[in-house]
Amino acid sequence: MKKLYIKTFGCQMNVYDSERMADVLAPTGYVQTDAPEDADMVILNTCHIREKASEKVFSDLGRLRTLKQRAAEQQNRQMLIAVAGCVAQAEGEEITRRAPYVDMVVGPQTYHRLPELVARADPSARKSVVDTEFPQEVKFDFLPEEAAPRGPAAFLSVQEGCDKFCSFCVVPYTRGAEFSRPADQILAEARRLVASGTREITLLGQNVNAWHGQAGNNGGVWGLGRLLRELAEIDGLDRLRYTTSHPLDMDEELMTAHRDLPALMPYLHLPVQAGSDKILAAMNRRHKADDYRRIIDRLRELRPDIALSGDFIVGFPGESDRDFADTIKLVSDIGYASAYSFKYSARPGTPASGAGEQIEEKVKSDRLAALQQLLDAQQLAFNKKCEGMTMPVLIEKQGGRDGQITGRSPFMQSVYLEGEASWIGRIMELEITQARQNSLWSAPSDAAAKGAA
Ligand code: 5AD
Ligand code: SF4
Repeated sequence: MKKLYIKTFGCQMNVYDSERMADVLAPTGYVQTDAPEDADMVILNTCHIREKASEKVFSDLGRLRTLKQRAAEQQNRQMLIAVAGCVAQAEGEEITRRAPYVDMVVGPQTYHRLPELVARADPSARKSVVDTEFPQEVKFDFLPEEAAPRGPAAFLSVQEGCDKFCSFCVVPYTRGAEFSRPADQILAEARRLVASGTREITLLGQNVNAWHGQAGNNGGVWGLGRLLRELAEIDGLDRLRYTTSHPLDMDEELMTAHRDLPALMPYLHLPVQAGSDKILAAMNRRHKADDYRRIIDRLRELRPDIALSGDFIVGFPGESDRDFADTIKLVSDIGYASAYSFKYSARPGTPASGAGEQIEEKVKSDRLAALQQLLDAQQLAFNKKCEGMTMPVLIEKQGGRDGQITGRSPFMQSVYLEGEASWIGRIMELEITQARQNSLWSAPSDAAAKGAA
C-alpha cells in the first residue's frame, strides 16, 4: 500500500478531477492520506485562473521539496511530486526549470495516463516527465467505473473546455476546446453514484450550459435542459444542480427545467462579470447588461424563489468610474444570494492582458471593497429572510465541532446543527433558527430528526 496526498486548488472541476486521479491510481496501490509528510506521492492539482492562484503553487512546491528531501535522508523513502491541472498545462516548462525535483507534470486532459507517468518517473534523474497534450483520446473514456462512494452530494463533470474566449480568461487555453460528454456516459455515471448512496448531483462544466450531447443512436442532440429532465427520472436522485453557466447558453428548455423539475434546486450561479455594456463588449461576453436582466426576469417568472449567484471582475482594462457604477447598479437591481468578485488579473496569453489602459491597483482594491460590501449586505439580507423558515437540508458531513453536522439548503447555504453522524445522507426538514453572513443554523426538534427521509 502506498500513500497518496492530493491538494486541490481552484474550481469544482478540479475537485472532481482530483477524485478521478485518486480513482486512476487506486488499482496501482495508492490510498489517500491527509498527511503530506507521510505520502509516497503528492499531487498538486493547480489553478491558473488568477495570478495569486498560480503563485501559490510555487510556494507549496518549496515546502514539498523539503518534505521530499527529509523522506529520502531520514527514512530512505522516495516521495514522488506531481503538478497537475491548469498551471501544469500553462507553465509546464517553467515548473521543470524552476523546480526540477518535480517528478511529473500532467495537464487536465491527460491525468488518465498517471499510472504510466508514475512508471516512467525516475526521481534520481532530477528531470520531470511531462504530459500536457490535448490528446485524441478522451480521458473520460479511460477513467475506471469502479470508484469509492463519493457521499451524499457529488460532482459529475459533463462538459469541459470553452469556446467562448472571454478576453480575460485562460480556460480556453488551459482546458482546451469545448467538449461535451455523451449523454449515456453521464446517465451511467449518475446511476452508479446514486447506487453508492449519492442523493444530490452537481453537473460540472467550465461552461456547463453549452453542453450538448448525442443521445443514443437515434436520440438526436440534447441540450442541458433535456439532460436534467432525464437525470430527474433516476430513482433516488433527489437533487440536481449545475455550474458554471454562461448567459448566452441559457435557452428556454433549460430555463423551464427550473419550473418543471422539483429536483432541480432553486439556485443558479450565472456570472455576468460586469454591468457596463462597454466593458462587456471589451470582455468579449457577446451580450449586454439588459440581456442578462431579461434572463433573470424570465428565470424568476418560472421559479420565483430562485437564489442567484454570480461572478464579477472589477478593474478590467479601461473600466471607468461610470462603468463600475453600472456594475453596482446591476447588482442592486438583481439582488444576489451570494457572489464571487475579483480584481482583474492580467493572465499571460489572453487578449485583455495587453489591452489599453490597465487599472491602478489602488482603484481596483477600492472598487472591490465597495462591490463586496454591497454583495455581503445582499447575502446577509437573503440569509436573514430564511430565519423562521423550514426547509429541506441534505446532511453532508460532520461540522467543525464535536457533535455538529452540516448540510446544504436548497439555496446552497451551509446549514449547521447539533446532530449525529448517522444523520449524514438524510434530507431533513429543518427550521432555521439563526442566519449569519455565511451560514444558517438550526436546532432540529426530535420529530424532525425522526421524520427525516
Ligand atoms: N482576472 C480576474 N478574474 C478572473 N476570472 C477569470 N479570469 C479572471 C482574470 N483574468 C473570474 C471570472 C470567472 C471566475 C471563475 O474567475 O469572474 O467567472
Ligand atoms: Fe473563461 Fe469566459 Fe469560458 Fe467562462 S465562458 S471559462 S470566463 S472564457
